[in-house]
Amino acid sequence: MTSPSTSGLSADMPGADTPGADTLSADVPGPSPTRRHYLMCPPTYYAVTYEINPWMHADQATDTAVALAQWERLRDVYLDLGHTVEVIDPLPGLPDMVYAANGAMVVAGTVYSASFLYPQRQPEGPAYERWFTDRGYETFTAQHTNEGEGDMLVAGDLVLAGTGFRTSREAHEELRGLLGVEVLGLELVDPRYYHLDTALTVLAPGEIAYHPPAFSPEARELLAHRFPDAVIVGADDAAVLGLNAVSDGKHVVVAPAATRFADQLRERGYAPIPVPTTELLKGGGGAKCCTLEIRPRLP
Ligand code: ARG
Repeated sequence: MTSPSTSGLSADMPGADTPGADTLSADVPGPSPTRRHYLMCPPTYYAVTYEINPWMHADQATDTAVALAQWERLRDVYLDLGHTVEVIDPLPGLPDMVYAANGAMVVAGTVYSASFLYPQRQPEGPAYERWFTDRGYETFTAQHTNEGEGDMLVAGDLVLAGTGFRTSREAHEELRGLLGVEVLGLELVDPRYYHLDTALTVLAPGEIAYHPPAFSPEARELLAHRFPDAVIVGADDAAVLGLNAVSDGKHVVVAPAATRFADQLRERGYAPIPVPTTELLKGGGGAKCCTLEIRPRLP
């Protein structure tokens, strides 16, 4: 396959070029939103039936109706912001499929499939890949263990890639070869922050927020060097998965309990939108985990 151009990395198609974009126009200078395209999976079969991260306790009851109501609210917030949301059919026996961010990585219309570490989630990789193949996307089946956008986040012309718990360094290399872009490997060291998207949020192409103690000393140095103006998020906000947030460049969907982070966002001109995801937190995920961004191939 041919490598997409690096310029296709950015999701920053100007919102004004797209229908419905008027709901996204920024009214003040500073952070500005762009229209996004998301894939989500309803938590129809959601339950905590196994434990593969420290948040999960199989003996703790989950309420699928509450999970579904929270998920629907999240989807409606995206729709109200003018974003497009597509939905993949959930499959019985795959309770974690609601965490769509792990299902793939989509950059410039090219899909890099997920290859899950734990056997319980492995069938999700082909299920998500099939969704894309069926819709005519160019897909690339990963040869190395990776958990999609859970660990690989686009920040401008750079991909930030987590490792240490789930996604392998080999997958970072594979992605680099596939996309022809810089992939910055970042080692995670705290098991509560087992995916990069639990410890770091991309707010805008050159702006991130993160919780330094989740990273190895080398990764902290890399982040400090590349993002000297990053929002540094404290332990309390990180511990409610406040960093598992979704930004469209202006609006940031965030766990309501992450109150200090919300203040920090406001100070920078972002508009935090608190959306409760407490039921989905029992599986170790929040808003971002439930949201896979589909970045189109740009003309
Ligand atoms: N129970 C899931 C797991 O441990 C949660 C995944 C959360 N997703 C995310 N993007 N962080 O794999």
